[in-house]
Amino acid sequence: MSDYVVKDVDLAAYGRREMDIAETEMPGLMALREEFGEAKPLAGARIVGSLHMTIQTAVLIETLVALGADVRWASCNIFSTQDHAAAAIAAGGTPVFAVKGQSLVEHWDYLDRSFQFADGANMILDDGGDATLYILLGARVEGGETELLDVPTSEEEEAIFAQIRQRMEESPGWFTRTRDAIRGVSEETTTGVHRLYDLHRKGLLPFPAINVNDSVTKSKFDNKYGCKESLVDGIRRATDTMMAGKVAVVCGYGDVGKGSAASLSGAGARVKVTEVDPICALQAAMDGYEVVTLEDAVETADIFITTTGNRDVIRIEHMREMKDMAIVGNIGHFDNEIQVASLRNHKWTNVKDQVDMIEMPSGNRIILLSQGRLLNLGNATGHPSFVMSASFTNQVLAQIELWTKGDDYKPGVYILPKHLDEKVARLHLARIGVKLTELRKEQADYIGVTVAGPFKPEHYRY
Ligand code: NAI
Repeated sequence: MSDYVVKDVDLAAYGRREMDIAETEMPGLMALREEFGEAKPLAGARIVGSLHMTIQTAVLIETLVALGADVRWASCNIFSTQDHAAAAIAAGGTPVFAVKGQSLVEHWDYLDRSFQFADGANMILDDGGDATLYILLGARVEGGETELLDVPTSEEEEAIFAQIRQRMEESPGWFTRTRDAIRGVSEETTTGVHRLYDLHRKGLLPFPAINVNDSVTKSKFDNKYGCKESLVDGIRRATDTMMAGKVAVVCGYGDVGKGSAASLSGAGARVKVTEVDPICALQAAMDGYEVVTLEDAVETADIFITTTGNRDVIRIEHMREMKDMAIVGNIGHFDNEIQVASLRNHKWTNVKDQVDMIEMPSGNRIILLSQGRLLNLGNATGHPSFVMSASFTNQVLAQIELWTKGDDYKPGVYILPKHLDEKVARLHLARIGVKLTELRKEQADYIGVTVAGPFKPEHYRY
């Protein structure tokens, strides 16, 4: 039996053609292949990847393999897979379990399958924390613990516990063995990082974790410039709506919110922002956006986007007040930012994949994108390759660090040192023709750095 689940493996040639193009836009990953391809620092690593199975991720997977790793992959979201990317990876011989539009039950089944190395997994590369949660929660259930871990959404709860019970029946002791074999995890996104710090605070994180998100070359680029390109891309592909002149509300003005507001305003929309943090609210105002409460804007805006990583931000009482044909979507990691569950008893008309029209009691309709899951990956193809190269170069460096030096790290959450962050940026300069100025020795001395960097103190915020 073939060791993969993809929509159609015959899409592999199409996937490969797009990967060939992506490689030309991913200089960081290609440089790591060049630098480490011979030494193979990831030899012996058996990495479970749980991250959107896109074309860019396919280039990441092939980079990990080129560096010596064995890899098995699942997507971290039911709508984000690009089926031709998954097909190319399967055809290349790396086990992958990902189909665009898979169910939640399949989501946890596929994640389980991605852990099934003959000799067991020993590393996790996570996005949002589901792979880490699966193992740690399973080990707690197996150990008879009564205090379990939070599952992010109630819809997922049933599916993950069913999968855990099935695995426990098939392979008693498997979760505990797997947990004890994991050398470390590298985590891609803000929400997954929150979960890791929370686990560590509670004394429940048994291995070291690298917070890739808070590399400057990740969150200040992917979360911001990535969303700047991919948010409007998702809205357009879903709705073909005219953006110019529309009033859009962006909930949250963190890194993703900043990119999202810029995306909408770049397309000509009039953007309003909601925030709970006075610093981010002030930033939004001084960037030229009106800062309002959702209650104030809900009746007049045309487009609503959540970017908070928080729950219940757009609630049923808000959606009841929206005008006819308001567009509602989320670009944060989980679908609990919008109270989609409370819409389930309304009349839904499926317009096309990942686009639904829902009739509210007033007769007004709302257009809901990707059922509240991150719309830039559900309705479009996520961020462009170039910015994902920066994120994934950090991922590969984190995997190398944990695999080769994991014993030096106690359980805890770490970020990559600044010199590696600067290295990631440096690897992306030539592709876009950036010419860097070199510090003179006396200038370096004057500002207290070395000529080769790092160029900023740890507390600098960019
Ligand atoms: P962040 O922490 O920088 O920003 C979130 C902002 O939301 C904060 O400023 C916070 O004060 C604000 N906020 C929280 N609750 C709020 C509420 N009830 N109303 C209004 N504002 C509220 O986090 P970041 O990096 O911007 O990430 C946000 C989410 O997006 C996370 O779930 C993250 O994992 C996800 N993400 C999604 C990406 C994508 O491609 N779709 C890419 C990167 C991150």
